[in-house]
Amino acid sequence: MQVTVIGAGYVGLATGVMLAFLGHRVQVVDHNPEIVAALQKGRRTIYEYGLENMLQQAADNLTFTSTLGDVGVAEVVMIAVGTPSREDGATDLGFVEKALLEVAGHCQGPPYPLIINKSTVPPGTACWAQTLVNGSLTGRGFVPGVAVVSNPEFLREGSALFDALYPDRIVLGAREESSFATLRELYQPLLSQQFTPPAYLPRPQDYTGPALVQTDPVTTELIKYASNAFLSVKISFINEFAALAELLGADIAQIARGMGLDQRIGEKFLRAGLGWGGSCFGKDTSAITQVAKKYDSRLSIVEAAIGVNHKQKKIAVTKLQAALGTIPGSIVGILGLAFKPDTDDVRDTPATAVIRELQDLGAFIKVYDPMAMDNYRKQHAGLKVVYCASLEELAAGCDALILMTEWEQFKKADWQKIGQRMQRKIIVDGRNLLDPKEMQSLGFDYRGVGRRTAILSCSVAVTGGGP
Ligand code: UGA
Repeated sequence: MQVTVIGAGYVGLATGVMLAFLGHRVQVVDHNPEIVAALQKGRRTIYEYGLENMLQQAADNLTFTSTLGDVGVAEVVMIAVGTPSREDGATDLGFVEKALLEVAGHCQGPPYPLIINKSTVPPGTACWAQTLVNGSLTGRGFVPGVAVVSNPEFLREGSALFDALYPDRIVLGAREESSFATLRELYQPLLSQQFTPPAYLPRPQDYTGPALVQTDPVTTELIKYASNAFLSVKISFINEFAALAELLGADIAQIARGMGLDQRIGEKFLRAGLGWGGSCFGKDTSAITQVAKKYDSRLSIVEAAIGVNHKQKKIAVTKLQAALGTIPGSIVGILGLAFKPDTDDVRDTPATAVIRELQDLGAFIKVYDPMAMDNYRKQHAGLKVVYCASLEELAAGCDALILMTEWEQFKKADWQKIGQRMQRKIIVDGRNLLDPKEMQSLGFDYRGVGRRTAILSCSVAVTGGGP
């Protein structure tokens, strides 16, 4: 099929490249000429595992441009532009609106392309978009007849191409059978899994293809929010329990394992730490709680999860305060700036909240990340931190370290050598990445999140009675 994807961010690029790899002819449009120029030369503009390889493999089916020009020939147009938060937490649909009106402006009468919305948008947006586009067409003297459908993505940054090729489910929200038929044709290679998997992204052994959910657009739009909100709740839930576990001398990793083995609960997204970050969970949980309020309803569990996440970032500072005694004048090294490992994305990364709070308290900050330093520098131009080229350079002279991102490199680091470079061997492991006993044996004052660091001794109850 002839596909136009508008927006070359994580979603648009991963989806466009994947569709081209599957054999569709794909044009990716982005208003940023620098991004387009880089992609035209086969250079990736974001770090995403396998992207460079797939860009090469799919090159014959892929074009990049900054103008919509021949959108009229496309059978489907995917909207994958940003949907940032407004100040009140609600979704800013400005880029979506602009893209829709541009598409409408380039259509010259039927047959019209099917417009697929991939961006995360408030429930009702597909209906609003359809009215908007058809109104614009009518205004230009064309018959209306464009259908706008909802088809959210569930890609995780860092494994976006894997998720794109082997999704758990494909969710389609449309109002006419003809739209569903076009969408099924588009995704046929994924639904049947009749493609040769790339060597760098082999098909998981037990994977047989995605489930297909066909429903109305509003339900589809809510499925996306409900999914992200639920995952956020799961993380905040385990983080609250981590605090209780710590008070009681229990271990959150073992609690999560014991819970997660129940298949109704599941083991994923139960890793305690310094809270979630990134461009999705914060934005989407605020947006959907705002939507609920607008309809005179409440999503109080999601609201609570947001509150817990906000507090969670602060525990790094509380733990540091407890270990250091006094923060002003101390030198603190931040390990990891990306909001999670295997990405260079630093949007809404918990590291920023921690850095700012420590600076407010008078600490001096050094930072190191294996991949996200350039992005961080660009996005936080005014922030006074010392960027270090290696872990060893970061550790030199530090009173304490805070591990913010669970990079494999940090797990494998030579902690003895790192400790020798520090003034005081204090570490707050904000992702529970390191082995507490090993760190203690190297002389570190180790503080994890909800982790037991001392062996519990239980007295034998002689008087009966329980806790
Ligand atoms: C998330 C969803 O997982 C995707 O399904 C969705 O498509 C995407 O948002 C989106 O809406 O575009 P992503 O933001 O890339 O994907 O990252 P996740 O892997 O979900 O992690 C989000 C945050 O939660 C990270 O800061 C991570 O460190 C944190 N996290 C995750 C935890 O603190 N504990 C966990 O157990 C899991």
